Amino acid sequence: MSVRVEHHVVLDTESHGPVVSITVDGKTIPAYEGEPILAALLASGILINRYTVKKHEPRGLFCGIGQCTDCAMIVDGIPNVRTCITPVRAGMVVCTQDGLVEKKVQPSQEWR
Ligand code: FES
Repeated sequence: MSVRVEHHVVLDTESHGPVVSITVDGKTIPAYEGEPILAALLASGILINRYTVKKHEPRGLFCGIGQCTDCAMIVDGIPNVRTCITPVRAGMVVCTQDGLVEKKVQPSQEWR
């Protein structure tokens, strides 16, 4: 399944930059610079952003406006980044987050 967010009710998804590349769990995907990271993930069919602490259940897009943290991922080594409201920059390294991560980690440590 692949979905691209063309019109977001809160975020400006229409004035994005050129196509760039970002790395997600070791895989390179295309993204528009400036679009929400989550939009690029959905467009590439990536639906899981993190796993819950207790039951290890997958979470992904829920609110889409930065309120629920279900889209939290590790971005350039920084955990708990809400990808639905964080714009893409060329060369970003994004990793699926497993549970709570309290300290900065190296992206290569989070690949599965
Ligand atoms: S989907 Fe809820 S904060 Fe991103």
